[in-house]
Amino acid sequence: MKKVTKAVFPVAGLGTRFLPATKANPKEMLPVVDKPLIQYAVEEAVAAGITDLIFITGRNKRSISDHFDMAYELENELERAGKKQLLTLVQNIVPSHVNCIYIRQTRALGLGHAVLLAKPVINDDAFAVVLADDLLDGKTPVMKQMVDAYDYYRCSLLGVEDVPADQTRSYGIVATNPVSDGIEQVSAIVEKPAPEDAPSTLGVVGRYILTPRIFHHLERIRPGSGNEVQLTDGISGLIDEEQVLAYRFNGVRYDCGSKAGYLEATVRLGLRHPECGAEFRALLESIFTKKQK
Ligand code: UTP
Repeated sequence: MKKVTKAVFPVAGLGTRFLPATKANPKEMLPVVDKPLIQYAVEEAVAAGITDLIFITGRNKRSISDHFDMAYELENELERAGKKQLLTLVQNIVPSHVNCIYIRQTRALGLGHAVLLAKPVINDDAFAVVLADDLLDGKTPVMKQMVDAYDYYRCSLLGVEDVPADQTRSYGIVATNPVSDGIEQVSAIVEKPAPEDAPSTLGVVGRYILTPRIFHHLERIRPGSGNEVQLTDGISGLIDEEQVLAYRFNGVRYDCGSKAGYLEATVRLGLRHPECGAEFRALLESIFTKKQK
């Protein structure tokens, strides 16, 4: 039985909500405590058995390929200084059995367009799509949960969660029928509907497993919402032909594409960081105690 071994990481967006931080640096390189968002996403994929990481990069994205490459000067310096732990840390950002492939999206024409660019390296296999700005924190890594579900159902899967009714405009929203615990059959998907038009409050988050038939649809759709080629519109075509399931993942999502979500992730992950968690907790407590006085 064929396993999911390829994951696409679209990292070519403009990240306008984080300007000016994202003027010369990609949003996906913003750190949460001490790791960039893209590294959390890659670690989640690798934990799910993914071996080919396909990055769809754009302008100002060199730091992403540098991050997953060797850093000769830094490594030499760390070795010379006897900083073995740090050396191991920078040398093991991706395991040696994992391949990194970079494809350039010359213009940010939309997430659907970015995913379509991966077609030449996907061939006939189902593949994962991971959006690094959704940081998903699960006891079992969320992509591993989804790969396991794919091994059972053998069809496209969308990571979903209930979103507040007044926030449907920020998500692809699905209409579904229950299949089993945590799994629902998707009958329709709408990109960023107004609350009164939304078919439900079940929002698609940045984790997908898609069959390669998605490319057929992405090649044919026209720019939709926001004048971008929307992955949602491609998935809508897929739903008419194949089974597509919504997967309610186990875990917590931090929307690191928004400032508040990014700050929440920083606080939550900072509080349980082995090195600085206790100090950070004391610091936060002192801030709030002072405020109350
Ligand atoms: P978003 O719309 O959330 O990201 O795209 P953005 O456009 O970079 O950010 P804002 O809204 O302007 O702040 C979701 C994901 O799709 C990628 C982004 O990098 C992000 O990971 N993306 C989006 C592309 O790779 N190419 C595109 O043309 C659009």
